[in-house]
Amino acid sequence: MARILITSAIPYINGIKHLGNLVGSQLPADLYARYQRGRGNEVMFLCATDEHGTPAELAAAKAGKPVAEYCAEMWEVQNRLGQGFGLSFDHFGRSSSKQNHRLTQHFAGKLAEAGLIREVSEKQVFSNADKRFLPDRYIEGTCPNCGYDRARGDQCENCTKQLDPTDLIEPRSAISGSTDLEVRETKHLYLCQSQLKDRLDAWIDSKSDWPLLTTSIAKKWLHDGDGLQDRGITRDLDWGIPVKKGDEDWPGMEGKVFYVWFDAPIEYIACAGEWAEANGKTEADWQRWWRTDKGADDVRYVQFMGKDNVPFHTLSFPATILGSGEPWKLVDHLKSFNYLNYDGGQFSTSQGRGVFMDQALEILPADYWRWWLLSHAPESSDSEFTWENFQSSVNKDLADVLGNFVSRITKFCRSKFGEAVPEGGEFGPQEQALIEELTTRVRAYERHMEAMDVRKSAQELRAIWVAGNEYLQSAAPWATFKTDPDRAAAQVRLGLNLIRLYAVLSAPFIPFASARMLEAMRTEDASWPDDVATALQALPPGHTFTVPDVLFAKITDEERESWQARFAGGRS
Ligand code: MF3
Ligand code: ZN
Repeated sequence: MARILITSAIPYINGIKHLGNLVGSQLPADLYARYQRGRGNEVMFLCATDEHGTPAELAAAKAGKPVAEYCAEMWEVQNRLGQGFGLSFDHFGRSSSKQNHRLTQHFAGKLAEAGLIREVSEKQVFSNADKRFLPDRYIEGTCPNCGYDRARGDQCENCTKQLDPTDLIEPRSAISGSTDLEVRETKHLYLCQSQLKDRLDAWIDSKSDWPLLTTSIAKKWLHDGDGLQDRGITRDLDWGIPVKKGDEDWPGMEGKVFYVWFDAPIEYIACAGEWAEANGKTEADWQRWWRTDKGADDVRYVQFMGKDNVPFHTLSFPATILGSGEPWKLVDHLKSFNYLNYDGGQFSTSQGRGVFMDQALEILPADYWRWWLLSHAPESSDSEFTWENFQSSVNKDLADVLGNFVSRITKFCRSKFGEAVPEGGEFGPQEQALIEELTTRVRAYERHMEAMDVRKSAQELRAIWVAGNEYLQSAAPWATFKTDPDRAAAQVRLGLNLIRLYAVLSAPFIPFASARMLEAMRTEDASWPDDVATALQALPPGHTFTVPDVLFAKITDEERESWQARFAGGRS
């Protein structure tokens, strides 16, 4: 039995995620976790909300709530939606947890001890009225270039000119509107990534099986221009993890917090600690996933993320881990995704463009979305959601092929043999041919799933469903029954067993339908078909079943059109 640690990039807390976010990390990570559990491996699947930084503060302000309260509420919402989509996290944590506070401060302390942190003095705008330093985007004023009076300290929205806050004419605080601002010297901590460049370079070189897309991004950051740059890891914000060296205060760093991209990946580790606390487990129980000196040396660690996250996962987070000098687990395989577009444009959270997780579940059950999203995952290039494509995939693959198969075989059996697996007859050459085809296809499916080739896995699974349909079509038990009822019994017996087999193989993609199929077959035997011929005898003659309700309803043209119209205007 292998042990596999899986993390999905942790979604920002500010707002409900859209389907593009979902398919870019959480959903494929869930597919892989479910598959590995199905194969009998020991899995630890972790995700959390990414709660710090300016976006969280701004979103809370917009909602008119204290940021801690806003985050707690949004965590509930994201957690519930994750469950609605069947995301089978072993724990869904929070980057604001006490475990992450402790661990982030711990890492900073270790990095400081190793001489990998330096202090840098910077000039920054301080608001006397707000009693705080203002990040660039919290300062507004008149653009020196075009005269627009609501330009932000980092950029003018009107003429797009990049700005420094000190360029603004009549600058004011975006929080209070106060113009009582002054420039003060302030110190920040920088992580000396440049000192770790050779170690990171060698580590990336050792990953010969990583996709070129991934290693080339890392190599670009390592070598382009002046090479890997040191990185500021502190910010002047209220909300975040206070800057400390382990348990000790950090002189000169009072009132500052760590930068969100410093603490967020550390939450991958802290989340295991949260899991332990929530489940009555010990430190040893979670450390055997994360510490190579405590049993994690035989763990395979796989990360899932969108392509924009790759630099942080190939360089910054490994720099934190390597620099700590402690034996924490580094990622073994990193699976990254391109973007999913929505109907001729981009999904956009700020513009409310596209379909969001809550809306999707209001319209249709999770499996419809899971199947479409995964079978169209943006792997080798960006992909696009259109309502036409969604309708046709769901109707063809799920309703016509899989759903129809289950319905026909169970109903036919009920009408001729009753609701139990019929006895009599034997498998002949036609059945042998099917078993051979399925054996080849199941092995291919396993290879694609192991390789995390999501689309290829979906194609193979669909081909497995199609093979059963074609068998049923040509075996035609309804015709056979009239002349040779024993032969028809054998055909139906195979068909009913195929339903169980399909439930097991399809569970990673469509877990809810899979559970209903097993329930209809009155079995809890979800063991993986290491041998297809044996697996097709799991339900013996006499085993009872029930005819399930329609597994997948077709999407009508009227429904499609009404959804198209509903989502054309964006979210209010
Ligand atoms: N919240 C980030 C995003 O959605 C991802 C953070 S991943 C982690 O892009 F590594 F920081 F955890
Ligand atoms: Zn301007």
